[in-house]
Amino acid sequence: MLIILMMEGFTTMYIKEAGIDEGISEVIVTTKSGAGELNAAPIGIITTTNDENKHFVKLYEGTKTLSNVMETNKLAANVSDDAVLFVKAAFENLNETHLSLFSGFPVLNEANSWILFKSAFIEKSVESSFFQLTPIAVKINQKEVKAIKRGLNAVIEAAILATRYAMAEDKREKEDMEKIMKLYADIVEKCGGHREKEALKILHERIYIG
Ligand SMILES: Cc1cc2nc3c(=O)[nH]c(=O)nc-3n(C[C@H](O)[C@H](O)[C@H](O)COP(=O)(O)O)c2cc1C
Repeated sequence: MLIILMMEGFTTMYIKEAGIDEGISEVIVTTKSGAGELNAAPIGIITTTNDENKHFVKLYEGTKTLSNVMETNKLAANVSDDAVLFVKAAFENLNETHLSLFSGFPVLNEANSWILFKSAFIEKSVESSFFQLTPIAVKINQKEVKAIKRGLNAVIEAAILATRYAMAEDKREKEDMEKIMKLYADIVEKCGGHREKEALKILHERIYIG
């Protein structure tokens, strides 16, 4: 199934169809720097639903995603359930063969759907910047009906923990994280499929899992 729309004022329905709904949706965000360098990283898209759906993103200082969004005021939220892509986007550079350009902006080839947003800076704290997102285009490649997979959920939690582990300096904090990682790893071993287990292997290289 394929839908491409290019207009302002999207209805909530199209965004929901593309897989982004109330709460925080973990996606792979693709961006481009002012100089044209492409980037991909897992990021949470925050959706609030008061009168109408509104979308936001909180980007941490020091990330390439933040500097690219500051430079181009755009990001694409790529919806995927591929654990390996999430982990690779977090810790390695996603090879450019994974990306193609839509109106000059990078999107993920393997995405089930993507939404191109323009971003408006709202506020900054010491550690992050907050933006409101307005959708300008959406493409749905594939609509999938899937059961909840504990293995996938555990890999995503483990990947978030691993990105924080990389920044943690306190030895005790790191040890606590290692214990939690072990719990997630056990769930992946028990409930995960081959993509979740492959993703876990990549995480093993980043963080000690007992
Ligand atoms: C599932 C998941 C969700 C994440 N959500 C965010 C987020 O909302 N904001 C953020 O700044 N970093 C988030 N991170 C951490 C970034 O992906 C990580 O710092 C990454 O290395 C940034 O890459 P970049 O420098 O290429 O932008 C998340 C990580 C994972 C695994």
